[in-house]
Formats: sequence, structure tokens, C-alpha cells
Amino acid sequence: MGCRTLFFALSCILFAYYISAPIPENVEETWKVGTINALVKMLSFTATLFENIGLMKYEEVLSTLVKLDFTKPISDENITVTDTTFSGIPVRLYLPKRKSERQRPAVIYLHGGAFIIGSCKNSAYDLLNRETANKLDAVVVGVDFRLSPQYYFPAAIEDILSVVKFFLQDKIIERYRVDPMRICIAGDSSGGSLTATVTQLLKSDPVFKNKIKAQALIYPSLQVIDSLVPSQQENEHGLLLTRDMAIKMACLYLTSNEALPQAMRKNQHMPQESRHLFKFVNWSNFLPDKYKKNYIYMEPLLGKLNLSYPALLDSRLSPLLVNDSQLQKCPLTYILTCQYDILRDDGLMYVTRLQNVGVDVVHDHLEDGFHGALSFMSSPFYLQLGIRIKDKYISWLEENL
Ligand SMILES: *[C@@H]1O[C@H](CO)[C@@H](O)[C@H](O)[C@H]1NC(C)=O
Ligand SMILES: *[C@@H]1O[C@H](CO)[C@@H](O)[C@H](O)[C@H]1NC(C)=O
Ligand SMILES: *[C@@H]1O[C@H](CO)[C@@H](O)[C@H](O)[C@H]1NC(C)=O
Ligand SMILES: *[C@@H]1O[C@H](CO)[C@@H](O)[C@H](O)[C@H]1NC(C)=O
Repeated sequence: MGCRTLFFALSCILFAYYISAPIPENVEETWKVGTINALVKMLSFTATLFENIGLMKYEEVLSTLVKLDFTKPISDENITVTDTTFSGIPVRLYLPKRKSERQRPAVIYLHGGAFIIGSCKNSAYDLLNRETANKLDAVVVGVDFRLSPQYYFPAAIEDILSVVKFFLQDKIIERYRVDPMRICIAGDSSGGSLTATVTQLLKSDPVFKNKIKAQALIYPSLQVIDSLVPSQQENEHGLLLTRDMAIKMACLYLTSNEALPQAMRKNQHMPQESRHLFKFVNWSNFLPDKYKKNYIYMEPLLGKLNLSYPALLDSRLSPLLVNDSQLQKCPLTYILTCQYDILRDDGLMYVTRLQNVGVDVVHDHLEDGFHGALSFMSSPFYLQLGIRIKDKYISWLEENL
């Protein structure tokens, strides 16, 4: 049997295996969702296989594929699109063409991809940012911050802060006719984590604290200290993103040492001296009852991991770890969460904590939603759910920015 035949046969078996996974009843487009889910899981399986036999690193396999989806900066009748750099960091800039009487709002968008893959050039983000620019008559900046594991935490955050600070200079704001009182930072998944972090940092900085009007977080990742919150247990083998994949990728943001993900899978990755941080992510206090179900809060076992990663205690990695007085400084916030998402409870806990300290929060929860759907908005991988998430986010911006 030839190699190709073998490969084809194996692919069929894998596909058959993954396509048979049950899809929750209320999820629409069952057949399409099942296919996309099976393809994503096969990709992850193949990437793991390639890594184990030493052919290619896990993230290299994923990023090779994701790069095939990159778009060129193509202007249309309404929007001028350019790839340029702000302070040396690559960005894609969307400028409305039509004449405007008043100054424009601006959105700085941070893409998802678990800190290791993806770009503002991916077709879904290009579509999203273009439509945001068009519908809001806004200037939109997609940021291509550095990725892990080539550049570990906090390289991405440093890049984004440079871009935002560059953009907020008077001369730049004036050049693009941006209203300095109507600037929002937004992102999905790991980009939602970066959005929350960067917003917190800017809001604590006397020079910039009044310059961010709003933040929008789409199914954000907001903590890596408790890996057994109810949504992580409920969606362990969930659609598109399994707990195993999420842990593998989250750890790659800090290290390539396998000991960290191994410990995190058991929720035994945090050091002894981190006990005081768990009150900030204690889901038994912050989740609405409806999501707690019959799960019982268990304190994680501390001090089992032999290695030290100071980043694990850092609120720039887990924005949920800031105290209430820090949190209070957050601006108007939009948070979208999905029911079938291991990251659901990160978003839900942030909603509760922000509301507890009086921050104005709009929360959309999609009962039939799952992680990553926003990345599927163009054919052949076109999901109604992706379009719905995009529309909810943009209409919130239209009303609030
Ligand atoms: C340009 O804007 C108009 C009005 O909003 C819209 O109808 C049209 O579809 C837009 N064109 C593109 C290419 O998005
Ligand atoms: C978490 O909250 C529960 C219920 O309020 C409490 O009993 C427990 O001590 C808390 N644990 C931590 C680590 O904060
Ligand atoms: C912990 O670290 C020590 C010293 O580096 C090493 O000898 C030991 O094998 C490690 N233990 C585990 C469980 O990894
Ligand atoms: C909250 O955190 C900030 C920054 O770490 C710190 O300066 C401040 O003292 C803390 N406030 C309280 C009430 O613990």
C-alpha cells in the first residue's frame, strides 16, 4: 500500500471518528458544525502526531494552515486598507473614504489564536474590521503583535501597548481625524485576554487613563490559574476547542516545557505562594447558580510543580487576578460568552466582578454558541453563528462608541 493510500485511509478513519461526536441539540447547522469540528480536531491530532515523530512543532503545523487564509490589504469603494507599521509593529489600517463632518471613533482589534497563531490578515478578521470601519465610520487598527513560542509572554502585550500609545499621540489622532474620546480596544479569545490586560494597564497609567472609552471582549480567556472551573469540566471534549488543546496552547505562551501542561491538566500547576490569588477566580462566588450546576468548588493542590513560572501569578496573563480597586478603573465593557466553551466561566466571572465594583457591563450570552465561531465567516466555512457574533459585537459598538 502506498503512502498516500495509507494517509488517505487514516484520514478517513479519523474523520469518521470525530464526525461521530455528538453536537448539542440547540446548536444550529449541525452538519456543517460537525464537519468543521471534525476537521479542526483532525488538524490538532495531526499536529500532535507530527510533533511526536519530530517532523514539525505543533504550532508550526497549525500556523502553516492558518497562513493559507491570509488576505491582502484590498481597499474597496468605502474603505482604504493598508498594511503598515505603528512604532515598528505591523498593523492593518482601515480608513473610511467618505467625507465625514465629525471626528471618527476608532477600534484597535486584537485577534485570537491562543497567542501562537493567527493574524489580523486572516479573512474573518479582515471582514470583521472592514465591516466595523464601514458601519461605524470608524478607523480600525488590526495589530499583528509577536506570537509565541518564538516570543513568549509578555512580548505580545509590549507590542500592543506600543501600538496603542503610538496611535494615541495627538498628531496621529489628528491625522486620521479620530475623536480621542471615542476609542475602543476589542478582541476575541486570546485577543480578549490581551484586550482586558492592555485596558487595565492603560487605565492605571495617568497619561492614558482617560483615553480608552470602552473594551469589547468576545469569548475571552481571562485566567490560567484554575483549570477546573465548571465550563472546563463540562466542555472538556467540546466543539472546536478541547480542554487539552487549550492547555497545550496556553502553556506555549510561557514555555515549551511539557511539565507545565502536564501539571495544568491536573490543576496542580500553581505554586504554594499563590493561595491568596484564588479568591479572585473563586467560581463558587462569582458564577450565577445556573452555571454552577452540581459542581463542587475544590481548592487546587498547590506546590506540586517543580518549576517556577512567575508569569502564572501575573495579572497581565490572568486579568481576573487584579483586585477590586484596580478593576474599578475599567471602562464601559462588552462581554460575549458562549455556553459550549471551556472559557465560558472566565467571561462570566469577569462580568460578575466588574458589575460588583460598579463598572458598566453589557453581557451577551449565546446559549447555542461555541468557541471560535467568529473565525468562520467566509465560504466554504461559513457559520450563521459566526455572523451572529459579528453582528452583536458591531451593533454594540454602534450604540456605545
Ligand atoms: C459601501 O457602503 C454602502 C453603504 O453603507 C454599502 O451598501 C456597500 O455594500 C458598501 N460596499 C462594500 C464593498 O462594503
Ligand atoms: C471559595 O468560596 C467558597 C464559598 O464561598 C469558600 O468556602 C472557599 O473557602 C473559597 N476558597 C478560596 C480559595 O477562596
Ligand atoms: C524536582 O527538581 C529537582 C531538582 O531540579 C529534581 O531532582 C527532581 O527530579 C524534580 N522532581 C520532579 C518530580 O520533577
Ligand atoms: C490593589 O492592587 C494594586 C496594584 O497591585 C495595589 O497597589 C493596591 O494596594 C491594591 N489594593 C488593595 C485594596 O489591596
